[in-house]
Amino acid sequence: MKTSTISPGTTQAWWRKPYPWLVVLGVLVIVNLLHAFPRYLSLDESHSRTMLNAGFSGHYELLVLHVVTGNIAMVTVFLQLWPWLRRHHPSVHRVSGRLYVFAGALPSAIVGGLVLVPLRPAPDGSLGLFLSAVLWIGTTVMGLRAARKRRYGEHRRWMVYSFALALHTTLGRVLFLMMTYIPGFKMNVTVLIETANWASWVVGLLIAHWWLEQRRSRAKKAAGATARQAARADADHVTDELSLDGFDLEELSKERTRS
Ligand code: HEM
Repeated sequence: MKTSTISPGTTQAWWRKPYPWLVVLGVLVIVNLLHAFPRYLSLDESHSRTMLNAGFSGHYELLVLHVVTGNIAMVTVFLQLWPWLRRHHPSVHRVSGRLYVFAGALPSAIVGGLVLVPLRPAPDGSLGLFLSAVLWIGTTVMGLRAARKRRYGEHRRWMVYSFALALHTTLGRVLFLMMTYIPGFKMNVTVLIETANWASWVVGLLIAHWWLEQRRSRAKKAAGATARQAARADADHVTDELSLDGFDLEELSKERTRS
């Protein structure tokens, strides 16, 4: 009988392994850095892709702060999800976790959701963006609280949701591009932006939830198999002891059936 979900010699489906996804994430992180840093670290307002509000003097500076902290969040999500780093360098994992919360997720979500969203010239997609920022702050704070209370299982769950929200703007851009490149696909631009700004985080959270549930049910199955194996080993042990004590097991079982 199998004692774990993956027995020795069984090959795991590629999509169940972490590394292919880590490579995809690494590519997204690099694309984001290349897209944002030359443009926003030049500190030249004319390079901004976002339309700046002339009536709000700190708009560009806050946008740069949002972009830098957003990219810190992306890089640290990558580091947090890298299994090798987690296992071999737990101190780096701890530091990058703190950077994710305090130098990435919280400042980026606060500036993005509470400053940049209200400054957007058109309301298209703003409610979806605002809600994603509220959820990003909420899941990160819940994850942090659980870690402080040493409830690590709970902490892990909240942080997986938080990571999904950290990745949602990138997923939104990918969805937006995919929709515009589908041949013959026509959609009103407002509806397209609205769809991308909602679908990106709803889909991200659903994937995160599905992944967590998959892991939970696999862990349950593995625990059940281990318990069954332990019970069987216990029964074998009793049987061995009875045989060693000179009992005729066949006779014993016949007697039990008769009585
Ligand atoms: C809940 C999370 C986030 C919210 C609510 C948010 C919100 C915003 C808003 C309102 C803008 C101004 C442009 C616009 O109106 O579309 C913006 C720009 C930007 N954000 Fe975010 N953002 C979030 C997460 C992130 C993350 C994680 C990154 C990091 C990769 C990021 C990178 C950027 C960049 C690079 C821009 C400049 C626009 C461009 O050049 O394409 N944002 N964000």
